[in-house]
Amino acid sequence: RIPLLIDTDPGVDDALALLMAFADPRHDVVGLTIAAGNVGLRHTVANALKLCEVAGRSDIPVYAGCEAPLLYPSPDAGNVHGQDGFGDVGYEAAIRQPEAEHAAHAILRLSHQHAGKLLLVALGPLTNLALALKLDPTLPERIARLVVMGGAVTCHGNITPAAEFNVYFDPEAAHIVFEAFPRFDLADWEATVAHGLHHDSVVQWLRSGGDVAAFYERISRKTREWSADRRGDHWHSADGLAMAYALQPDGALETAERALDVALDGPHSRGATIVDWQRQTGRPDRARILLRYDQARFEALVQGAVGAA
Ligand code: BDR
Ligand code: CA
Repeated sequence: RIPLLIDTDPGVDDALALLMAFADPRHDVVGLTIAAGNVGLRHTVANALKLCEVAGRSDIPVYAGCEAPLLYPSPDAGNVHGQDGFGDVGYEAAIRQPEAEHAAHAILRLSHQHAGKLLLVALGPLTNLALALKLDPTLPERIARLVVMGGAVTCHGNITPAAEFNVYFDPEAAHIVFEAFPRFDLADWEATVAHGLHHDSVVQWLRSGGDVAAFYERISRKTREWSADRRGDHWHSADGLAMAYALQPDGALETAERALDVALDGPHSRGATIVDWQRQTGRPDRARILLRYDQARFEALVQGAVGAA
C-alpha cells in the first residue's frame, strides 16, 4: 500500500477528503499534519481528532502545525465552514490529544521513514510544508508525489477576484513550496467549480450511509446551505476533488504542465497563482494542473467515503 501523508486544515471539504483517503484500499494514511486556515489551529486540530474518532481511525497520528501564516496574518473561512470549522454543531471533543511532535518535524521524519514512496497531499495553506522545506531543503527528493489543492489557474479566485483561499492565506508559503518541488500536481479552484456535486445527490448519499455519513451530514449542513444560496445546484468540494486526483491519478482526463508562481504583493494580485500558459518565461513546467477529471469516478469515491449504498 502507498503511504499517504495529508497536510490539512479541517474544514468541511477537508473532512470529506480525509474520509475518501481512509476508505481507499490502496493507500495507508500514515499521519495528518494540521495547518491553520479555514479556522484557527485549535479548531482544525480538534476537528481532525474528532473525524478520526468518528471514522474509527484513532490509530492515525495527528500532528499540530503552525498557528499562523509565515509572514502576515490572514482572515479565516469561518463564514463558510462554521466558526469551529465543522458547522458549529457542538460535537463532543475527541478523547485523544495530538502528538507532541510539530507537524513540520513529522513531515520530515515521515519523509525519511517512507523515502521515495510517500504520497503527500496538501489540502490547506502550505505553511507547514514551507517550514519543513526551510528546515530541510532536500525534502522533495524523498517525496514520490506531491498533490496540492490550491490556486486559481486563470485567476477566477474564491477569496479575492484573483486568488484562491489556500494560496491567499499564506502566499509566501505557497511560493516556497512551488519553487522547491521540481514536479507537483495541482487541483485548483477552477477545476473544483467544473466538478460540482449535485446537492440532491449529496443528500441522498449522506442519508444512505451509516454513522460516519450521519456525522458528515451534520457538520456539512451549514456550508452546503451557504453554498446552495450562493452557487446554485452544485456543491463544490475542492479538497474532495484533490483527493480523488491523488488517490486515482488515472481518473484525470485532461491535465496541463506549466510553470507557475504566486503573486506576493499588490492589492488585487496578492495570492494569485500566475500560470505561464503561453510559455513566455522559459521557466520549467513544474505543475501538472488538473483540468478535467472523470466525474463518475469522483462521485464513486465520495460515495465510498461516506459508505453510501
Ligand atoms: C480551499 O479552501 C478551503 O476553504 C477549503 O478547505 C479548500 O482547501 C478551497 O479554496
Ligand atoms: Ca482545506
